[in-house]
Amino acid sequence: MGPIKRGALIVFEGCDRSGKSTQSRRLAELLKSRGIPTESLNFPDRSTDIGQVINSYLTNSKDLQDEVIHLLFSVNRWELMGKLRQKLLAGTTLIVDRYSYSGVAYSVAKGMDFDWCYAPERGLIKPDAVFYLRAVPDRLAERSEFGEERYEKVEFQSRVSAVYDRIFSNESTYWHQLDASVTADELHFLIAEIAEKLLPKVTTQPLDKLS
Ligand code: TMP
Ligand code: MG
Repeated sequence: MGPIKRGALIVFEGCDRSGKSTQSRRLAELLKSRGIPTESLNFPDRSTDIGQVINSYLTNSKDLQDEVIHLLFSVNRWELMGKLRQKLLAGTTLIVDRYSYSGVAYSVAKGMDFDWCYAPERGLIKPDAVFYLRAVPDRLAERSEFGEERYEKVEFQSRVSAVYDRIFSNESTYWHQLDASVTADELHFLIAEIAEKLLPKVTTQPLDKLS
């Protein structure tokens, strides 16, 4: 018997209400139906102590300095890295709704320095693929529940979108940019096609780190 193949780390990124939750759920369902051990998670993970502070900030019941909330989002990823690594090495594919790039995009959109924002992400497990659901922020506002949380304002989302575009231009080797305005079925089809090609390739490669 050969060594256990590791799972893949697949990340979804994009503005609020761009369809990440739906698409990550559908991809996870598809992979599970193919017998691939798969788990879903999202950042921020609001269930930890730090996650609860983040939740208070996002729901506007707590104010924090920009640097402080930025670092808390990062810590929230670091506190889960051991668990994620263990699962990946045991062969479980992880579908993650938001990751380090959200950390950078939302903070840089506030006017913070790009390199400063990226620094605490270095060393986290590098995703094998990022699906960037690119949406026009004006259209996002039409989606239900938009506007309930702190960052859900069209003008702010436009700036977030511009930072994502910048990250995409640097990370295009493993980023897949997709037009989020097509139907959910079309989007799922495109994502499934890419994921199915990717999985057998990456699972024999060692885990890499964000650098
Ligand atoms: P959610 O809507 O996916 O639950 O994410 C909550 C908000 O937090 C969303 O507006 C994006 C933002 N965010 C950051 O600002 N930094 C981060 O590191 C993460 C993961 C999310
Ligand atoms: Mg949201």
